Amino acid sequence: MTAAATAASTAAATAVVNIGSLVTNDPALGDGPLGLLEDAAVVFEGGRVAWVGATGAAPAADAVYDAAGRALLPGFVDSHSHLLFAGDRTGEFAARMSGRRAASYQKRGAGGIRTTVAATRAATDGELAANLARFVREMLRQGTTTLETKSGYGLTAADESRALRVAAERVAGVEEITYLGAHVVAPEYADDPGAYVDLVTGEMLDACAPYARWIDVFCEKGAFDGDQARAVLAAGKARGLTPRVHANQLSYGPGVQLAVELEAASADHLTHLSDADVGALASGSTVATFLPGCEFSTRAVYPDVRRVLDAGATVALSTDCNPGSSFTSSMPFCVAVAVREMGMTPDEAVW
Ligand code: NIG
Ligand code: FE
Repeated sequence: MTAAATAASTAAATAVVNIGSLVTNDPALGDGPLGLLEDAAVVFEGGRVAWVGATGAAPAADAVYDAAGRALLPGFVDSHSHLLFAGDRTGEFAARMSGRRAASYQKRGAGGIRTTVAATRAATDGELAANLARFVREMLRQGTTTLETKSGYGLTAADESRALRVAAERVAGVEEITYLGAHVVAPEYADDPGAYVDLVTGEMLDACAPYARWIDVFCEKGAFDGDQARAVLAAGKARGLTPRVHANQLSYGPGVQLAVELEAASADHLTHLSDADVGALASGSTVATFLPGCEFSTRAVYPDVRRVLDAGATVALSTDCNPGSSFTSSMPFCVAVAVREMGMTPDEAVW
C-alpha cells in the first residue's frame, strides 16, 4: 500500500496534488493505453482511489500531499517470484558470465535448484521468514505493492508446507502464494520420478493446499514432462488451486498449450515460442508472462514480445526473483529490459 493509501485508511480523504504525470491505467481517463493525465490530482478514501482529475478541480481532502511535479503510478504487481529459499548462488552467475559452457544455466538448471534445496531444508523457519521479509521490503522500496511468491526449494511435504506457512503466517505483504512442489524431482526420487509426482499430487498437496491459492509446475526437459505436468495441475485444480505454468523456458515444449488448455492464470517464461504457442495464447485467457531478468541473467536469447502482443494475447512482466536464474527484485529493471531487448513500448511495459 502506498503512503497515501495508508493515510487514507485513517483519514476520511487524502489527496495528492500537483502530479506531473499520473498513470491511471484507464484510457477513458487520459491519454494512451496508460490513461496519462498531466498536472493531475488523485484522492484516496478508505484505501481506494475515489477521484482523479486536474489539480485545479480536486475536491477538498483531510490530508494533502504536494507531488511537486513528480510522476505517480500504481504500484507494480510482481506476479512471479521464488523468495522462499536460503543460501546463495551468486557464484553460479559469475561462472556463467565467464562463458564456460559447463556453467550455462541450460546445463546446470536442475543441479543449481538442488543446491538451494539443500540450503533451504537446513534453514530454520525464522531464517526463511527473515529472508522473505527482506525481499518484500526491497520490492516495496522499488515500487512493488502486490506480489506473488512460491515454494519449490523444499521438495518434501514438510519442507514445502512449512515454506508456504512462513509466507502465509509469518511475513506481511505477500498477497499471493503458490505451491510449486513440482519444481524439480526431489533428489531422493531421482530414480523414480513417477513416485515423486504421486507425492506432489497426494500427501504434499494435502499439506500445502491450505496455504496456497495457486499451483505451478516447471514443465521442461530435466523437470516435468507434459503428462506429469498435466497430472500435477489437474490434482491442484481438483483441490481448488488455480494453475500456472513455468513453460518453454529452456526449450520448446508442451507447457504453453497445456496452460491454455487447462485455463491456467498464466504461462510464464516463454523464452521459446512456436507459432502454435503464440496462437494458443492469443485464443485463450492465459496471461503470457515474460521474465526479462531471467534471459538477462542466463544470457538466453530474448523472446520477441511484440509478436505475442500483436497476436492479441495479454502480456505481463515479472521479476522471477530467485537465487539462480534471475536474482533481481526490481520491476523497474525488468520494464527497462523488456523495452530495450524484447520489443515492448515503454507504455506497454509499464502497464
Ligand atoms: O523460474 N525454472 C525454474 N525455476 C526458476 C529458477 C530456479 C533456480 O534456478 O533456482 C525460474 O527460473
Ligand atoms: Fe520461476
